[in-house]
Amino acid sequence: MIWITWLKAICLLLLPISLAADTSNPQYHTLPTLREQAALKDSWTAERKANIPSILAKHGIGAWLMVEKEYAEDTVFWSLKSATQFSARRRTVNLYLASNLTSCQEQLAYTWIDNTPQVWQDLVAVLEKFEPESIAVNTDTDIAFASGMHIGEYQNAKESLGDWGEKFVSVPMVAVEVVGTMPKSQMGWYKKLMETTWAIISEGLSESVITPGKTTTKDVEWWFREKIQSYNYTTWFQCDVNIVGPDGVFELRITPDHNGTIQYGDLLHVDLGVTALGMNTDTQHLAYVLFPGETEKDIPQGLKDGLNKGNLLQDIVKSKMVVGETGNSILKKSLEMMKSEGFEGSVYSHPIGDWGHSAGTLIGMTNLQDGVPVLGDLPLLDNTYYSIELYAAHFVPEKKETLFFYQEEDVYWVDEETGFDWVYGRQEKFHLIHSKIEAEEFMYQDLRRTSIP
Ligand SMILES: *[C@@H]1O[C@H](CO)[C@@H](O)[C@H](O)[C@H]1NC(C)=O
Ligand SMILES: *[C@@H]1O[C@H](CO)[C@@H](O)[C@H](O)[C@H]1NC(C)=O
Ligand SMILES: *[C@@H]1O[C@H](CO)[C@@H](O)[C@H](O)[C@H]1NC(C)=O
Repeated sequence: MIWITWLKAICLLLLPISLAADTSNPQYHTLPTLREQAALKDSWTAERKANIPSILAKHGIGAWLMVEKEYAEDTVFWSLKSATQFSARRRTVNLYLASNLTSCQEQLAYTWIDNTPQVWQDLVAVLEKFEPESIAVNTDTDIAFASGMHIGEYQNAKESLGDWGEKFVSVPMVAVEVVGTMPKSQMGWYKKLMETTWAIISEGLSESVITPGKTTTKDVEWWFREKIQSYNYTTWFQCDVNIVGPDGVFELRITPDHNGTIQYGDLLHVDLGVTALGMNTDTQHLAYVLFPGETEKDIPQGLKDGLNKGNLLQDIVKSKMVVGETGNSILKKSLEMMKSEGFEGSVYSHPIGDWGHSAGTLIGMTNLQDGVPVLGDLPLLDNTYYSIELYAAHFVPEKKETLFFYQEEDVYWVDEETGFDWVYGRQEKFHLIHSKIEAEEFMYQDLRRTSIP
């Protein structure tokens, strides 16, 4: 088994050109008008809502209740709201019923927006009609997506619903599945978001933005922020640009003469995500700063070998992402296979979609390589997006240092046969910062610099 998967991994490494998508020239995608975006988002939300009754039936739950107030929304609210809703209003009550609760063509979703006690009577009337045996509420103690019911609203609902309040149960997988499952029709735009992420990274990690000896890592970070904004996208975290130092230490170079200034021969790392149309991306790539006169063939072999190891670890994790397995089991199997291949690294992959760190099982965390309590014990779901995030450690002889080769790339669940696949592609070549000055000129400058006392 292991051998077969390993052979597959080798094939992937040997045949990147024929198997991987062409990622050499990623394009920017501009967003449609706000009005068109709203229509798109509402169609996706309708698809997601249509799944709820069967998700409830699958988990043996009769009904699912969310009770919230303006600015004290349930976490799930953000995945189910209409595009023109900006917060809950008054008391907003959402009730969903299981598909097998009634055999008739009945309404299975109810919303009330009210600031009088009448809302409880309306709710009780529906509960009395359908008589669910259990009512899921989002009161989990560990999982954010299943813990969005505010304590005051929980008390209000319990007091106002009489015997129905006795039927409250916490079934965290309901919220996890509703938030984590991505409607199929979103995929076309998710690919465009990913390609745009790649386009932004490719432009930022190039000589058009970086001048060695002048540009600092902070300059590049803020260039990325402005670029994202100029395309009317936004982001969900401050992007990060680092100079990779030995053993996972980022070289800060915050000294009067460096200030994080990028130099020839640096290995650069970027961690960047974009947000648009209610979706998020998360990507980590590496770049190499060529010396004047150098071309792609001058990249130290040790760096290329390190990136190959990162790619191999990506293949390993992707091959272990079997639906139904827990994140902890996928983590354990991935790390075992990595060790049997004779290298070190770390895996910390997470669901992505409506949130940058979205609902679903976690495959490791940076500080938890032996398993993640609770979140790592959930089963991997189909129809989800994941961010395969990891690093492989590799000793680079040319630098006489062990460097960490960070990679992060988003995947989506295709179908039972294929499992998960890259949304846009994955990095198999370094981004390159070419020098704008000639080799001779560089040597002359260098001589002058070293001759200054
Ligand atoms: C709906 O289906 C689930 C799962 O099979 C089951 O546990 C539950 O009792 C069913 N509910 C009704 C009302 O039939
Ligand atoms: C960003 O939005 C503004 C205002 O709607 C629009 O004029 C501009 O063309 C958009 N830019 C891009 C790159 O889509
Ligand atoms: C380094 O950064 C500090 C703080 O931003 C600034 O005051 C200083 O002038 C910078 N030094 C150089 C050499 O750019």
